[in-house]
Amino acid sequence: MSFLFGKKNNQKPDPEHLPAHIGIIMDGNGRWAQKRGLPRTAGHAAGVKTFKNISLYAQEIGIRQITFYAFSTENWKRPKQEIDRIMQLLDQYIEEGLAEYAERKARIRFVGDLAPIPPKMAEKIRRLEALTKDYTGWTLNIALNYGGRAEIVNAAQKIAREAVEGTLAPEEISENTIASRLYYDDMSECDLIIRPSGEYRLSNFLLWQSAYSEFWFDKILWPDFKPEDLDRAICDFQKRQRRFGAI
Ligand code: IPE
Ligand code: IPE
Ligand code: MG
Repeated sequence: MSFLFGKKNNQKPDPEHLPAHIGIIMDGNGRWAQKRGLPRTAGHAAGVKTFKNISLYAQEIGIRQITFYAFSTENWKRPKQEIDRIMQLLDQYIEEGLAEYAERKARIRFVGDLAPIPPKMAEKIRRLEALTKDYTGWTLNIALNYGGRAEIVNAAQKIAREAVEGTLAPEEISENTIASRLYYDDMSECDLIIRPSGEYRLSNFLLWQSAYSEFWFDKILWPDFKPEDLDRAICDFQKRQRRFGAI
């Protein structure tokens, strides 16, 4: 009856039917800070804490793969000072995460083009990835300088190169040819995409992977997002009937 009073339910997801891959668009940091009269960067600092908390909770409940949208190819349009602070916070997170994720046997991968990322930070990223690459039981993907369109362009370039080299004929190109040339060939589908902050758009997140994703939107701002909210999203997902075009 609690729904009658607008309370959130505290239902736990069914561990037998968890989404295999969840994507989260971490949105609303700026508005969270503005509401408190703080600079937007304070919202990003709070957002990184939530990111850590939710990623660890997802591992605890048995989600095998989760992708967090941290910085888009369009986010370079923001003021330099805000971008610098976001990079600094992520850098700090990687530094602290190095030992912790290895201890937790979590595989960390970055998704996106690292070319414009500060070289020292990119080096730490590669180190963290190398350190955790064999922990395939649980995968945390961090989308950094990521764009769904850029990912598909990148796959198209690989395919064109193979065609020019004569190792791939154009008529052989299938959906699988593209899926296997995305940034990681084992993250070609996303079951559930979560976006807080009250925006109802993908903002260039997982375009290929979201063809049959279920969506969960909520007004909550990312720094306020709690493990119970992840439970809510997953419970809702578990009530859906996915038809994939069939009846
Ligand atoms: C998401 O929060 C974080 C990044 C895009 C890096 P925003 O910074 O977009 O927060 P709002 O949408 O302005 O509230
Ligand atoms: C999407 O949020 C990108 C990330 C959360 C990293 P934005 O705040 O950049 O999206 P728009 O501009 O509202 O579409
Ligand atoms: Mg935003």
